[in-house]
Amino acid sequence: MGVIVTTLALPEALRERLGRVGDLRGPDRWGDHLASAEAIIPLLTVRVDAALLERAPDLRLVANAAVGYDNVDTEACFRRGVMVTNTPDVLTAATADLTIALMLATVRRLPQAERSLREGRFHGWGFWDYLGGDLEGRTLGIFGMGRIGRAVARRARGFGMRIRYTSRTPMAAELEADLDAEHVDREVLFETSDVLSLHAPGTPETRHVINRAALERMKRGSYLINTARGTLVDEAALAGAIRSGHIAGAGLDVYEREPIVHPELLALDQVVLLPHIGSATHRTRGRMAELAVENVEAVLTGRAPVTPVPGSPRGAG
Ligand code: NAP
Ligand code: GLV
Repeated sequence: MGVIVTTLALPEALRERLGRVGDLRGPDRWGDHLASAEAIIPLLTVRVDAALLERAPDLRLVANAAVGYDNVDTEACFRRGVMVTNTPDVLTAATADLTIALMLATVRRLPQAERSLREGRFHGWGFWDYLGGDLEGRTLGIFGMGRIGRAVARRARGFGMRIRYTSRTPMAAELEADLDAEHVDREVLFETSDVLSLHAPGTPETRHVINRAALERMKRGSYLINTARGTLVDEAALAGAIRSGHIAGAGLDVYEREPIVHPELLALDQVVLLPHIGSATHRTRGRMAELAVENVEAVLTGRAPVTPVPGSPRGAG
């Protein structure tokens, strides 16, 4: 039986399933087992690059335990015929919920208000205290209208927000009508959104899509929400735009150099910072782990992978 290396601590039931199709190693000292590995389950914090592939000459499958796979050098994998899978759909609702929570927390300044209460600064109901922004009637701009972007749009409609979006491929007209969403150019999205929410993957093309020029284009008093990848945002430029008052605030779940958070962002009261918890619900993380396991089971028993990423070889070889 082929060796399966997991970098993720799996529940016993899933370890048993993998034990039926292979010889499971890890997560302890997982790097020691690469030389004989046929499949690996990497966390998104594990970089699967040419150097790792060199150490794993028998590798056939990278079953990433996340939907984003910017930690995987897919070109290097595909060149060697290594399949790559991810965990789409099962985390869409949880991540969309978290995005909405972050948007509300940022615009209504919930962590700041809570901090103030805990620090003994709540002296009774104050008419002009703790004021934030509104969502109803405001424009939500969605950059990257895929699974999570659409789920966020659906939820935001319930708050009476108007939806605009940018993706390289516009949605079908029926879906646009269903979500009441309007496709616009990136520049128009930046210029007209009251809240701009990022949902595109971390790629060379999306790197620093929110840079100083983009922030200057954004509406004065608007908010930025990022639950996609930290690489989409130039964090120093964002901190500057908030300090200057041009951007009213930001809600961030992801960072350029995780787990490091830019010190200038940490110093700003208008920024709500979460530790990359978009998909962190019991049920969702269970489903993600199970889907990664299903992909390994499929490939190691000669079937096609369940959720290959675009461009991945699908054969069982
Ligand atoms: P998805 O369905 O593939 O959606 C991504 C969307 O981005 C697609 O509609 C794609 O459309 C668009 N896009 C790609 N490149 C673009 C570009 N250069 N400009 C504009 N739009 C672009 O993926 P998903 O399942 O919604 O997940 C999105 C991302 O969320 C993941 O890649 C991951 O990084 C992140 N995520 C974070 C968490 C968290 O814990 N915070 C949890 C889950 C996911 P086109 O190709 O037509 O442009
Ligand atoms: C989490 O960030 C994911 O991509 O699944």
